[in-house]
Amino acid sequence: MLRPCLCLSCCEAVGGKITEDVLKVAAALELVHTFTLVHDDIMDHAETRRGVPAVHVKWGEPIALTVGDALLLKAFKLLSEVPNSQAIIGLMAEATLQLCEGQVLDIEFSKRETVSEGEYLQMIERKTGALFSAATRAGALMGGAPPELAGEMAEYGRLVGMAFQIRDDVLDLLEKPESDLREGKRTLMIVKAMEDLQLRERLRDALGRRDLSIEEAREIQRLLVGSGAFDYAMEKARELAELAKSKLTGLPPSPAKDVLLELADLAVTRNR
Ligand code: IPE
Ligand code: MG
Ligand code: MG
Repeated sequence: MLRPCLCLSCCEAVGGKITEDVLKVAAALELVHTFTLVHDDIMDHAETRRGVPAVHVKWGEPIALTVGDALLLKAFKLLSEVPNSQAIIGLMAEATLQLCEGQVLDIEFSKRETVSEGEYLQMIERKTGALFSAATRAGALMGGAPPELAGEMAEYGRLVGMAFQIRDDVLDLLEKPESDLREGKRTLMIVKAMEDLQLRERLRDALGRRDLSIEEAREIQRLLVGSGAFDYAMEKARELAELAKSKLTGLPPSPAKDVLLELADLAVTRNR
């Protein structure tokens, strides 16, 4: 529940109290996030989520699609219960739209010959950065922050989200390399490795191949590690996290601010 945690910490960090209303916003963030995961597992042909069968595997795609829709609507129903929530509803809707754009880019990239680092960053900014950014902006606004400060918090969230996604891609490719390779996902490691002509040949043959064996996937993982692609990605993630923390200089010292600083580091150092 990282997004709710970010939202509540931002609320407190700007001097706000944790009210029933901000808790509803925090819950809505997790519901939107869960909606995206249920649909994402269909899009990515993922069999499991958090160590258990994915919703579409257990109950079938028609149910998973409908459950995902329902989670999204529950989120917005909850937001509608918050007094004067027009601005919050608007920014949550905007973030969810950007997330959908990011998901479409993610799929589109997997069918492309080349993807630049800039394009990859724009894609993760939408699919992950946008909801993180909404979480931190909404938390700050609910805590009574003026728009400018809320804007800084939104920047912090966007950058933490991007760092989080890079680490997510790193962990996935280290733990189960066959998943993203079979889907042809253009993670930062792949984008980087494609710059090397020899590696590009090898990757071109493997990316998107549904019958790629686990042994072959491991072999490619070794090549990627050897090429420095993982080091490169982790360096980028650390850079984004540092930049995120630099957005918090306008906040007075507080335990909530310490949590935000720690969460930026945790996005990059976590092992799951
Ligand atoms: C998850 O993205 C869904 C969103 C970010 C919207 P990924 O497909 O990259 O992540 P996992 O590995 O399935 O969690
Ligand atoms: Mg996905
Ligand atoms: Mg996925």
